[in-house]
Amino acid sequence: MSGGLILSVESSCDETGIALIEDGRLIRSNVVASQVALHAPSGGIVPEVAARAHLRWIVPVLDEAWADAGASWDDVDAVAVTYGPGLAGSLLVGINFAKSLAWVHEKPLVGVNHLEGHVYAAWLRDPGETDRPDPVFPLVTLVVSGGHTFIAEMRDHLTYRLLGTTLDDAAGEAFDKVGRLLGLGYPGGPAIGRAAEAATRHDRVFPRAWLGDSYDLSFSGLKTAARRIITEARADAGLAGTSEAPLPDDVVAELAWGFQDAVVDVLVTKTIRAAEATNARSIVMGGGVAANGVLRARLAGEAEARGLPLIVPRPALCTDNGAMIGAAGARRFAAGERAGLDLDARPSLPLAAR
Ligand code: KG4
Ligand code: ZN
Repeated sequence: MSGGLILSVESSCDETGIALIEDGRLIRSNVVASQVALHAPSGGIVPEVAARAHLRWIVPVLDEAWADAGASWDDVDAVAVTYGPGLAGSLLVGINFAKSLAWVHEKPLVGVNHLEGHVYAAWLRDPGETDRPDPVFPLVTLVVSGGHTFIAEMRDHLTYRLLGTTLDDAAGEAFDKVGRLLGLGYPGGPAIGRAAEAATRHDRVFPRAWLGDSYDLSFSGLKTAARRIITEARADAGLAGTSEAPLPDDVVAELAWGFQDAVVDVLVTKTIRAAEATNARSIVMGGGVAANGVLRARLAGEAEARGLPLIVPRPALCTDNGAMIGAAGARRFAAGERAGLDLDARPSLPLAAR
């Protein structure tokens, strides 16, 4: 790779992220403005509110990214931006901003698939981090986010073969919905992870949708089962018919643990099986749910038992950020890809095909 800097912009969902990435992997700066507090009262993302927040924060985020990196436009090779998948209004803010920067500063523009960003976060390095191994091909990647969940094979850079995908909800979506049912607020993923840590009993079993030998996944049945199990637990706690009174903390912890265990079990089992079946030489995991401590630990244990290197970015690089878009954008740029100034948002942009 060229050794120059990629300025990268991410605004597909509810985080405004801008980063400066050197040589495709070294994080010179990575600033993220999160909208979590903004969306918490409504219990989920309101698209127009998200788009307006990107508009409000994108310039201050850029200013901070420049300040942190101590760099200037002279050092920049290209501007990379997420053009899908995601919320149309949110994507348009980042795309229009990146286009304007590229045009004014006469830099090439590169369009990046957000999901490819989650995969390429595995190549990122923090300053001073020298002992981080690069993923080795062929590899199997598990991407688990709020909008997507899939397992794909990569035999080389920028090429994907879909092995399995969720047939209904994304894993993060299930975490968020069950978090709400448990009264844990938004976003449910991190809250369930924290609540589960306090569980002292580990005997609440939630169903797993194995779907035979396939690598496909399904979480909507689990969500329905969770609703039933939580209703029963409320009745057991003498809370039937009320919706306001919270479940006791120890019950919430046990239920959070049981739900998380079911999701993690299926994700880990299928990913390991896919890696073995394709003779993968490493496993890469990314996306917001990959920040989950139990998922990280369990996949690490199973991978290590088979001598398979597992590369998972630190949690802040699993959730949405600009650095991952810079890592993927640098690869696309090095491969000669350029976007025109007519680049448009692609809310349903796919990554991998079977
Ligand atoms: O990748 P991401 O930041 O945004 C999308 O591209 O969707 O993923 C967000 C998702 C949310 O559903 C959130 O609840 C989940 O990732 N998440 C977690 C954790 N941190 C974030 N799920 C489980 N455990 C966590 N620690
Ligand atoms: Zn994401």
